[in-house]
Amino acid sequence: MGYELASRIYEPVNSFLEKPTGGRRARRGLIEKAHGKVIELGVGTGLNLPLYREDVEVFGVDVSEEMLKKAKRKKSPARVKLVKADARFMPFPDESFDTAVSTFFLCVVSGKGKVLSEVRRVLKPGGLFLAMECSPPKNPIFRGFLSGLSALTSRLTGTDFRLDVGNLLRKNGFEILEERSLVNGAVRVLVAKPSSEP
Ligand SMILES: C[S@@+](CC[C@H](N)C(=O)[O-])C[C@H]1O[C@@H](n2cnc3c(N)ncnc32)[C@H](O)[C@@H]1O
Repeated sequence: MGYELASRIYEPVNSFLEKPTGGRRARRGLIEKAHGKVIELGVGTGLNLPLYREDVEVFGVDVSEEMLKKAKRKKSPARVKLVKADARFMPFPDESFDTAVSTFFLCVVSGKGKVLSEVRRVLKPGGLFLAMECSPPKNPIFRGFLSGLSALTSRLTGTDFRLDVGNLLRKNGFEILEERSLVNGAVRVLVAKPSSEP
């Protein structure tokens, strides 16, 4: 699916799914934890931008011009800079950010291992990784449904609901500090940090 179409339908679809499931509240709670200099991966239409605290500086990265155009229109209490870049090759120096944020980005991007090694590189020692991502739900019928749906969505948008974000982070050198589930486990909200042993 072209990013122009995706950028038009993303917010209505997201609102429909997130508002009744508590996802919007969870997003707010997660983004409030961002501090200092923040890198947001796959910033998209900028849904998180209004939720940052005013004392943070946010660099929002996305590959899509159309998504970034929408994000530019969002008001934010924080200082925001939007950058067209691929999160697998980020144009930032080592150890330059206090917080990295990923909401529904790891379940879309290809080359997840490379993205996470970039996150480890650009985070300062003691930096936090805040994530809200897909994960397999506990209910086997729901899990089967999302697995089937992934066959279609992974081709259309890259979205793979089979991602287990907790395992992905642990395998790529992160320690999970906090984790909570929404929607029967289909969405996980995590606070992590690079582990001392990669
Ligand atoms: C599902 S959207 C999520 C947007 C936003 N984070 C949110 O929570 O609403 C995924 C975003 O990742 C972007 N994206 C995909 N691959 C990327 C990459 N390699 N580097 C940077 N952005 C990428 C897409 O353009 C899209 O805007």
